Amino acid sequence: MKQVAGITFMQQVKTIRDISLHNKRVLIRVDFNVPMDEDFNISDDTRIREALPTINYCIDNDPQSIILISHLGRPKGIQPEFSLKHILKRLERLLDKSILFADSIESTLELQKNAPAGSIILLENIRFYPGEEKNDTTLSQKLASLCDVFVNDAFGTSHRAHSSTYGIAAFVQEKVAGLLLKKEIDSFAKALANPLKPVLLIVGGSKVSSKLELLSNILDVVDKIIIGGAMSNTFLKALGFDMAKSLVEDHLVDEALHILQKAKQKNVKIYLPIDVVSTDDIKQHINIKITPVQDVPNNFIAVDMGPATTKLFTEVIQSSQTIIWNGPLGIYEISQFSRGTFNIAHCIAETYAFSLIGGGDTADAVEKAGERDNMSFISTGGGASLELLEGKILPTFEVLDKK
Ligand code: 3PG
Repeated sequence: MKQVAGITFMQQVKTIRDISLHNKRVLIRVDFNVPMDEDFNISDDTRIREALPTINYCIDNDPQSIILISHLGRPKGIQPEFSLKHILKRLERLLDKSILFADSIESTLELQKNAPAGSIILLENIRFYPGEEKNDTTLSQKLASLCDVFVNDAFGTSHRAHSSTYGIAAFVQEKVAGLLLKKEIDSFAKALANPLKPVLLIVGGSKVSSKLELLSNILDVVDKIIIGGAMSNTFLKALGFDMAKSLVEDHLVDEALHILQKAKQKNVKIYLPIDVVSTDDIKQHINIKITPVQDVPNNFIAVDMGPATTKLFTEVIQSSQTIIWNGPLGIYEISQFSRGTFNIAHCIAETYAFSLIGGGDTADAVEKAGERDNMSFISTGGGASLELLEGKILPTFEVLDKK
């Protein structure tokens, strides 16, 4: 099983607890890529909060200095709206410490030389450097020159082999995982490597294409799969249902059928919606109908699962001991179509199963359903958690020191 071998390998990384930080220059790659509104108010600071245990651990272990590096968004060159200055105050408040801000690597070096021991310096958005995403060697070396210890705690970015997450490690003597990275990998191990059975995967989202690798690689790990959201339309079409105007990836209908057959051979049960909520206009949503999947009206678009499906999925969830959820089950951002997704969140919250929620949209849906505190673990990584479920070894784990 790919997942088990990969996760066992990734669990071997050394963490900050395995080395001494005393009097060393410690560079922590964090993921402060947080959502903000147009006035730069942070609308969800989970990722900053989740980095605090590592930062505080470092503070408590007498380093010479701490440098924090992160990206924010996907800027094209230097764009002030993507400046990490927007998160500085929140970070200072959460840490209850003042933090120095550096516009460049050069000024970070200057601050490091002149600031009192134990100072914390936040470098400007690392993606303002064109070399970052190219894993440029010169940039990696420059970043490495800032530290004696490289700590990767940016789980959300751990599937990206960039200079600050990957390349830097080749030029630093000690490179270890932070506490968030460790917590994430241990939680995935609990769900994938040695889970309590039966294991259920709930997969949703709009496109089968983005979940194909996941679906074909996870069949050896799970006992049951619920497929919902718009991606279930392609499966329903493969089974012969007319999904009217619903989003269907026609070119993947055969592939969907193949996944259903493969699941059957491996004795993995697949559950699809049996009824849907649909509308003829997603924006206006005046005409809304609930019908069995056989009867989606002409010109209507399936936007959520229906009540019979919720009942069916609830029973499947209640009989599972490990639940992995990746992808919303309807257009949950529109309140009329959020019922299915939110009901599933409530249902998972009521179980005693180990529940692992993939990051990104799924984490957001769970938050909006008011169930954040009732899940066993919510990942801070969207793309990164998907790649783990696909059975990949995340590149940034490969370059860290092993025990
Ligand atoms: C995320 O939000 O998923 C991470 O911060 C990675 O961001 P990216 O997809 O822009 O690399």
